[in-house]
Amino acid sequence: MSKILIIGASGQIGSDLTVELRKKYGSENVLATDIKNATQEVMDGGPFEILDVMDKNRIAEIADKYQIDTIYHLAAILSGNAEKKPKMGWDINMNSLFNVLDVSRDKKIKKIFWPSSMGAFGPTTPDQNTPQLTIMEPTTVYGISKLAGERWCEYYYNKYGLDIRSLRYPGLISWKTEAGGGTTDYAVEIFYAALENGKYECFLSNDIALPMMYMDDAVNATIQLMEADSNNIKVRSSYNLGGISFTPEQIAQEIRKYIPELEVAYKPDFRQEIAESWPRSISDKAAFDDWGWKHEYDLEKMTKVMIENIRKKLNK
Ligand code: NAD
Ligand code: SER
Repeated sequence: MSKILIIGASGQIGSDLTVELRKKYGSENVLATDIKNATQEVMDGGPFEILDVMDKNRIAEIADKYQIDTIYHLAAILSGNAEKKPKMGWDINMNSLFNVLDVSRDKKIKKIFWPSSMGAFGPTTPDQNTPQLTIMEPTTVYGISKLAGERWCEYYYNKYGLDIRSLRYPGLISWKTEAGGGTTDYAVEIFYAALENGKYECFLSNDIALPMMYMDDAVNATIQLMEADSNNIKVRSSYNLGGISFTPEQIAQEIRKYIPELEVAYKPDFRQEIAESWPRSISDKAAFDDWGWKHEYDLEKMTKVMIENIRKKLNK
Protein backbone atom coordinates (compact mmCIF):
# COMPACT_ATOMS: atom_id res chain seq x y z
CA MET A 1 0.00 0.00 0.00
CA SER A 2 1.30 3.47 -0.91
CA LYS A 3 2.22 5.93 1.86
CA ILE A 4 1.23 9.31 0.51
CA LEU A 5 2.29 12.84 1.51
CA ILE A 6 0.18 15.75 0.24
CA ILE A 7 1.80 19.18 0.49
CA GLY A 8 -0.64 22.10 0.22
CA ALA A 9 -3.61 19.93 1.26
CA SER A 10 -5.65 22.86 2.64
CA GLY A 11 -6.11 24.54 -0.74
CA GLN A 12 -8.71 24.22 -3.47
CA ILE A 13 -7.36 21.00 -5.01
CA GLY A 14 -6.07 19.47 -1.77
CA SER A 15 -9.51 19.72 -0.15
CA ASP A 16 -10.92 17.33 -2.77
CA LEU A 17 -7.87 15.27 -3.74
CA THR A 18 -7.01 14.33 -0.13
CA VAL A 19 -10.50 12.94 0.45
CA GLU A 20 -10.40 10.86 -2.74
CA LEU A 21 -6.91 9.52 -2.07
CA ARG A 22 -7.94 8.52 1.46
CA LYS A 23 -10.99 6.67 0.09
CA LYS A 24 -8.76 4.82 -2.34
CA TYR A 25 -5.63 4.09 -0.29
CA GLY A 26 -6.95 4.17 3.31
CA SER A 27 -7.12 7.23 5.58
CA GLU A 28 -4.08 6.25 7.65
CA ASN A 29 -1.94 6.04 4.48
CA VAL A 30 -2.53 9.63 3.33
CA LEU A 31 -0.83 12.39 5.31
CA ALA A 32 -2.24 15.87 4.60
CA THR A 33 0.07 18.84 5.27
CA ASP A 34 -0.03 22.61 4.79
CA ILE A 35 1.05 25.82 6.54
CA LYS A 36 -2.56 26.31 7.65
CA ASN A 37 -5.33 24.03 8.86
CA ALA A 38 -7.44 22.30 6.24
CA THR A 39 -11.22 21.82 5.93
CA GLN A 40 -12.89 19.92 8.77
CA GLU A 41 -13.34 16.97 6.41
CA VAL A 42 -9.57 16.77 5.78
CA MET A 43 -8.57 17.52 9.40
CA ASP A 44 -10.93 14.86 10.79
CA GLY A 45 -10.47 12.29 8.03
CA GLY A 46 -6.87 11.19 8.64
CA PRO A 47 -3.40 12.34 9.71
CA PHE A 48 -2.52 16.05 9.33
CA GLU A 49 0.73 17.93 10.04
CA ILE A 50 1.75 21.55 9.65
CA LEU A 51 4.56 21.61 7.05
CA ASP A 52 6.20 24.57 5.33
CA VAL A 53 7.38 23.28 1.96
CA MET A 54 10.21 25.83 2.04
CA ASP A 55 11.74 23.82 4.91
CA LYS A 56 13.55 21.01 3.13
CA ASN A 57 14.78 19.30 6.31
CA ARG A 58 11.26 19.05 7.66
CA ILE A 59 9.99 17.50 4.40
CA ALA A 60 12.77 14.88 4.77
CA GLU A 61 11.89 14.33 8.46
CA ILE A 62 8.23 13.81 7.63
CA ALA A 63 9.09 11.49 4.74
CA ASP A 64 11.08 9.32 7.19
CA LYS A 65 8.56 9.51 10.03
CA TYR A 66 5.66 8.34 7.85
CA GLN A 67 7.73 6.14 5.48
CA ILE A 68 6.42 8.14 2.54
CA ASP A 69 6.79 6.67 -0.98
CA THR A 70 4.52 9.04 -2.96
CA ILE A 71 4.30 12.85 -2.86
CA TYR A 72 1.66 15.22 -4.27
CA HIS A 73 3.13 18.74 -4.17
CA LEU A 74 0.26 21.23 -4.49
CA ALA A 75 1.59 24.27 -2.59
CA ALA A 76 2.03 27.32 -4.84
CA ILE A 77 1.24 31.00 -5.32
CA LEU A 78 -1.39 31.30 -8.07
CA SER A 79 -1.36 33.69 -11.02
CA GLY A 80 -3.14 36.74 -9.58
CA ASN A 81 -1.30 36.67 -6.26
CA ALA A 82 2.08 36.00 -7.90
CA GLU A 83 1.64 39.10 -10.11
CA LYS A 84 1.18 41.19 -6.93
CA LYS A 85 4.41 39.84 -5.38
CA PRO A 86 6.53 38.55 -8.28
CA LYS A 87 9.71 37.69 -6.37
CA MET A 88 7.78 35.88 -3.66
CA GLY A 89 5.78 33.99 -6.32
CA TRP A 90 8.96 32.90 -8.07
CA ASP A 91 10.72 31.97 -4.81
CA ILE A 92 7.88 29.82 -3.46
CA ASN A 93 6.89 28.19 -6.74
CA MET A 94 10.46 27.29 -7.77
CA ASN A 95 12.21 26.60 -4.47
CA SER A 96 9.35 24.48 -3.13
CA LEU A 97 9.65 22.34 -6.25
CA PHE A 98 13.43 22.00 -5.84
CA ASN A 99 12.93 20.97 -2.20
CA VAL A 100 10.45 18.28 -3.19
CA LEU A 101 12.58 17.07 -6.13
CA ASP A 102 15.75 16.88 -4.02
CA VAL A 103 14.14 15.13 -1.05
CA SER A 104 12.44 12.72 -3.46
CA ARG A 105 15.72 11.90 -5.17
CA ASP A 106 17.60 11.51 -1.86
CA LYS A 107 14.86 9.46 -0.14
CA LYS A 108 14.12 7.40 -3.26
CA ILE A 109 10.45 8.43 -3.33
CA LYS A 110 8.70 6.20 -5.88
CA LYS A 111 6.24 8.66 -7.47
CA ILE A 112 5.74 12.43 -7.38
CA PHE A 113 2.89 14.57 -8.70
CA TRP A 114 3.37 18.29 -9.35
CA PRO A 115 0.82 20.40 -11.23
CA SER A 116 1.68 22.78 -14.00
CA SER A 117 -0.99 25.01 -15.52
CA MET A 118 -2.40 26.41 -18.75
CA GLY A 119 -0.61 29.51 -17.39
CA ALA A 120 2.60 28.04 -18.81
CA PHE A 121 1.32 29.14 -22.26
CA GLY A 122 1.58 32.73 -23.42
CA PRO A 123 0.30 35.24 -25.98
CA THR A 124 2.35 33.72 -28.82
CA THR A 125 0.91 30.23 -28.25
CA PRO A 126 -1.76 29.16 -30.79
CA ASP A 127 -4.82 29.83 -28.66
CA GLN A 128 -7.45 27.49 -30.17
CA ASN A 129 -7.20 23.81 -29.30
CA THR A 130 -3.63 24.46 -28.10
CA PRO A 131 -1.46 21.40 -28.89
CA GLN A 132 0.76 19.55 -26.41
CA LEU A 133 3.95 20.70 -28.10
CA THR A 134 3.86 24.34 -29.11
CA ILE A 135 5.30 27.81 -28.57
CA MET A 136 5.50 28.61 -24.84
CA GLU A 137 6.41 32.19 -23.95
CA PRO A 138 4.46 32.93 -20.74
CA THR A 139 4.35 36.58 -19.66
CA THR A 140 3.32 36.11 -16.00
CA VAL A 141 5.55 35.18 -13.06
CA TYR A 142 3.24 32.25 -12.40
CA GLY A 143 3.53 31.01 -16.00
CA ILE A 144 7.30 31.45 -16.08
CA SER A 145 7.59 29.43 -12.84
CA LYS A 146 5.33 26.68 -14.25
CA LEU A 147 7.24 26.43 -17.53
CA ALA A 148 10.59 26.36 -15.68
CA GLY A 149 9.13 23.76 -13.28
CA GLU A 150 8.09 21.56 -16.20
CA ARG A 151 11.62 21.65 -17.60
CA TRP A 152 13.09 20.75 -14.18
CA CYS A 153 10.65 17.84 -13.74
CA GLU A 154 11.74 16.42 -17.08
CA TYR A 155 15.39 17.02 -16.12
CA TYR A 156 15.05 15.07 -12.82
CA TYR A 157 13.33 12.25 -14.72
CA ASN A 158 16.08 12.06 -17.34
CA LYS A 159 19.01 12.66 -15.01
CA TYR A 160 17.99 10.82 -11.81
CA GLY A 161 15.17 8.51 -12.99
CA LEU A 162 12.68 10.26 -10.70
CA ASP A 163 9.13 9.15 -11.60
CA ILE A 164 7.53 12.59 -11.58
CA ARG A 165 4.22 13.15 -13.36
CA SER A 166 2.42 16.37 -14.13
CA LEU A 167 -0.73 17.92 -15.61
CA ARG A 168 -1.30 21.39 -17.03
CA TYR A 169 -4.60 22.00 -15.24
CA PRO A 170 -7.02 24.50 -16.78
CA GLY A 171 -9.03 26.71 -14.36
CA LEU A 172 -10.58 24.45 -11.73
CA ILE A 173 -14.11 24.84 -10.41
CA SER A 174 -15.16 23.39 -7.06
CA TRP A 175 -17.29 24.20 -4.02
CA LYS A 176 -15.49 22.88 -0.91
CA THR A 177 -13.09 25.85 -0.55
CA GLU A 178 -12.60 29.23 -2.12
CA ALA A 179 -10.27 29.43 -5.13
CA GLY A 180 -6.70 30.38 -4.21
CA GLY A 181 -5.89 33.73 -5.86
CA GLY A 182 -5.86 32.88 -9.55
CA THR A 183 -7.26 34.41 -12.74
CA THR A 184 -9.97 31.78 -13.10
CA ASP A 185 -11.34 32.32 -9.55
CA TYR A 186 -14.30 34.26 -10.96
CA ALA A 187 -15.86 30.96 -12.10
CA VAL A 188 -16.05 29.82 -8.45
CA GLU A 189 -16.92 33.23 -6.90
CA ILE A 190 -19.88 33.74 -9.25
CA PHE A 191 -21.72 30.72 -7.78
CA TYR A 192 -21.37 31.95 -4.19
CA ALA A 193 -22.36 35.50 -5.15
CA ALA A 194 -25.35 34.28 -7.18
CA LEU A 195 -26.67 32.20 -4.28
CA GLU A 196 -25.85 34.71 -1.54
CA ASN A 197 -27.17 37.94 -3.07
CA GLY A 198 -28.01 37.45 -6.77
CA LYS A 199 -25.27 39.88 -7.89
CA TYR A 200 -21.67 39.47 -9.01
CA GLU A 201 -18.96 41.89 -10.11
CA CYS A 202 -16.69 39.98 -12.50
CA PHE A 203 -13.00 40.95 -12.76
CA LEU A 204 -12.80 39.66 -16.37
CA SER A 205 -14.68 40.89 -19.45
CA ASN A 206 -17.92 39.14 -20.45
CA ASP A 207 -16.47 37.56 -23.61
CA ILE A 208 -13.10 36.10 -22.61
CA ALA A 209 -13.21 32.31 -23.04
CA LEU A 210 -10.89 30.20 -20.89
CA PRO A 211 -10.35 26.45 -20.53
CA MET A 212 -11.95 25.18 -17.29
CA MET A 213 -12.67 21.90 -15.54
CA TYR A 214 -14.88 20.64 -12.72
CA MET A 215 -12.82 19.40 -9.76
CA ASP A 216 -14.05 15.79 -9.94
CA ASP A 217 -12.58 15.54 -13.44
CA ALA A 218 -9.29 17.11 -12.28
CA VAL A 219 -9.03 14.69 -9.33
CA ASN A 220 -9.83 11.72 -11.59
CA ALA A 221 -7.21 12.83 -14.13
CA THR A 222 -4.63 13.19 -11.37
CA ILE A 223 -5.27 9.74 -9.91
CA GLN A 224 -5.49 8.14 -13.37
CA LEU A 225 -2.14 9.66 -14.35
CA MET A 226 -0.51 8.55 -11.10
CA GLU A 227 -1.83 5.00 -11.53
CA ALA A 228 -0.87 4.69 -15.21
CA ASP A 229 1.91 2.30 -16.15
CA SER A 230 5.17 4.23 -16.19
CA ASN A 231 5.86 3.04 -19.76
CA ASN A 232 2.71 4.83 -20.94
CA ILE A 233 3.82 8.19 -19.55
CA LYS A 234 5.51 9.57 -22.64
CA VAL A 235 5.39 13.23 -21.53
CA ARG A 236 7.68 13.94 -18.60
CA SER A 237 7.23 17.70 -18.61
CA SER A 238 3.44 18.07 -18.19
CA TYR A 239 0.32 16.83 -20.01
CA ASN A 240 -2.25 19.25 -21.44
CA LEU A 241 -5.72 18.91 -19.91
CA GLY A 242 -8.52 20.51 -21.92
CA GLY A 243 -11.87 20.25 -20.18
CA ILE A 244 -14.55 22.75 -21.11
CA SER A 245 -14.21 26.26 -22.43
CA PHE A 246 -16.60 29.12 -21.70
CA THR A 247 -16.84 32.89 -21.17
CA PRO A 248 -18.11 34.68 -18.03
CA GLU A 249 -21.32 35.53 -19.91
CA GLN A 250 -21.88 31.87 -20.84
CA ILE A 251 -21.50 30.64 -17.24
CA ALA A 252 -23.76 33.48 -16.02
CA GLN A 253 -26.44 32.36 -18.52
CA GLU A 254 -26.16 28.77 -17.31
CA ILE A 255 -26.49 29.87 -13.65
CA ARG A 256 -29.58 31.94 -14.59
CA LYS A 257 -31.37 28.65 -15.33
CA TYR A 258 -31.37 28.23 -11.51
CA ILE A 259 -31.20 31.88 -10.38
CA PRO A 260 -32.93 33.94 -13.12
CA GLU A 261 -32.45 37.22 -11.27
CA LEU A 262 -28.61 36.98 -11.32
CA GLU A 263 -27.06 40.33 -12.31
CA VAL A 264 -23.42 40.47 -13.42
CA ALA A 265 -21.36 43.65 -13.81
CA TYR A 266 -18.10 43.38 -15.74
CA LYS A 267 -15.14 45.39 -14.38
CA PRO A 268 -11.95 43.86 -15.78
CA ASP A 269 -8.85 44.41 -13.62
CA PHE A 270 -5.18 43.36 -13.99
CA ARG A 271 -6.26 39.73 -14.36
CA GLN A 272 -7.87 40.48 -17.75
CA GLU A 273 -4.41 40.83 -19.31
CA ILE A 274 -3.35 37.52 -17.76
CA ALA A 275 -6.47 35.80 -19.12
CA GLU A 276 -5.87 37.27 -22.59
CA SER A 277 -2.38 35.77 -22.64
CA TRP A 278 -3.74 32.23 -22.07
CA PRO A 279 -5.37 29.82 -24.58
CA ARG A 280 -9.10 29.91 -25.35
CA SER A 281 -9.23 26.08 -25.58
CA ILE A 282 -6.72 23.26 -25.15
CA SER A 283 -6.23 19.87 -26.81
CA ASP A 284 -5.60 16.97 -24.43
CA LYS A 285 -5.15 14.38 -27.17
CA ALA A 286 -1.73 13.30 -25.80
CA ALA A 287 -3.32 12.43 -22.41
CA PHE A 288 -6.05 10.47 -24.24
CA ASP A 289 -3.55 8.64 -26.45
CA ASP A 290 -1.09 7.78 -23.66
CA TRP A 291 -3.30 6.91 -20.68
CA GLY A 292 -6.89 7.11 -21.93
CA TRP A 293 -7.94 10.46 -20.42
CA LYS A 294 -11.50 11.78 -21.09
CA HIS A 295 -13.34 14.41 -19.06
CA GLU A 296 -16.92 13.89 -17.95
CA TYR A 297 -18.37 17.26 -16.90
CA ASP A 298 -19.68 19.83 -19.40
CA LEU A 299 -20.85 23.33 -18.45
CA GLU A 300 -24.42 22.17 -17.81
CA LYS A 301 -23.54 19.23 -15.56
CA MET A 302 -20.88 21.21 -13.68
CA THR A 303 -23.28 24.12 -13.02
CA LYS A 304 -25.94 21.76 -11.68
CA VAL A 305 -23.62 20.11 -9.11
CA MET A 306 -22.08 23.44 -8.10
CA ILE A 307 -25.50 24.98 -7.43
CA GLU A 308 -26.71 21.90 -5.52
CA ASN A 309 -23.63 21.68 -3.32
CA ILE A 310 -23.20 25.38 -2.58
CA ARG A 311 -26.93 25.65 -1.84
CA LYS A 312 -26.56 22.86 0.75
CA LYS A 313 -23.35 24.39 2.13
CA LEU A 314 -24.93 27.85 2.55
CA ASN A 315 -28.14 26.29 3.79
CA LYS A 316 -30.21 28.16 1.16
P1 NAD B 1 -4.53 26.98 -3.43
O1 NAD B 1 -3.93 28.33 -3.36
O2 NAD B 1 -5.99 26.83 -3.22
O3 NAD B 1 -3.80 26.02 -2.40
C1 NAD B 1 -2.41 26.03 -2.23
C2 NAD B 1 -2.13 25.61 -0.80
O4 NAD B 1 -0.73 25.71 -0.61
C3 NAD B 1 -2.79 26.53 0.24
O5 NAD B 1 -3.55 25.76 1.15
C4 NAD B 1 -1.61 27.19 0.95
O6 NAD B 1 -1.81 27.37 2.35
C5 NAD B 1 -0.51 26.16 0.70
N1 NAD B 1 0.81 26.76 0.82
C6 NAD B 1 1.24 27.98 0.41
N2 NAD B 1 2.52 28.18 0.77
C7 NAD B 1 2.90 27.05 1.42
C8 NAD B 1 4.11 26.66 2.04
N3 NAD B 1 5.17 27.48 2.07
N4 NAD B 1 4.17 25.43 2.58
C9 NAD B 1 3.10 24.59 2.56
N5 NAD B 1 1.92 24.92 2.02
C10 NAD B 1 1.82 26.14 1.45
O7 NAD B 1 -4.10 26.34 -4.83
P2 NAD B 1 -4.81 25.16 -5.63
O8 NAD B 1 -5.82 25.76 -6.50
O9 NAD B 1 -5.19 24.07 -4.72
O10 NAD B 1 -3.60 24.73 -6.56
C11 NAD B 1 -2.73 23.66 -6.25
C12 NAD B 1 -1.72 23.52 -7.38
O11 NAD B 1 -2.41 23.33 -8.63
C13 NAD B 1 -0.81 24.73 -7.58
O12 NAD B 1 0.45 24.30 -8.00
C14 NAD B 1 -1.48 25.47 -8.71
O13 NAD B 1 -0.57 26.25 -9.42
C15 NAD B 1 -1.99 24.33 -9.55
N6 NAD B 1 -3.10 24.73 -10.41
C16 NAD B 1 -4.29 25.10 -9.88
C17 NAD B 1 -5.33 25.49 -10.73
C18 NAD B 1 -6.67 25.91 -10.20
O14 NAD B 1 -7.50 26.39 -10.97
N7 NAD B 1 -6.95 25.74 -8.91
C19 NAD B 1 -5.12 25.49 -12.12
C20 NAD B 1 -3.88 25.16 -12.61
C21 NAD B 1 -2.87 24.75 -11.75
N1 SER C 1 -6.50 28.74 -12.00
C1 SER C 1 -5.11 29.06 -12.09
C2 SER C 1 -4.89 30.53 -11.99
O1 SER C 1 -5.77 31.24 -12.43
C3 SER C 1 -4.57 28.56 -13.42
O2 SER C 1 -3.36 27.99 -13.20
O3 SER C 1 -3.88 30.94 -11.51
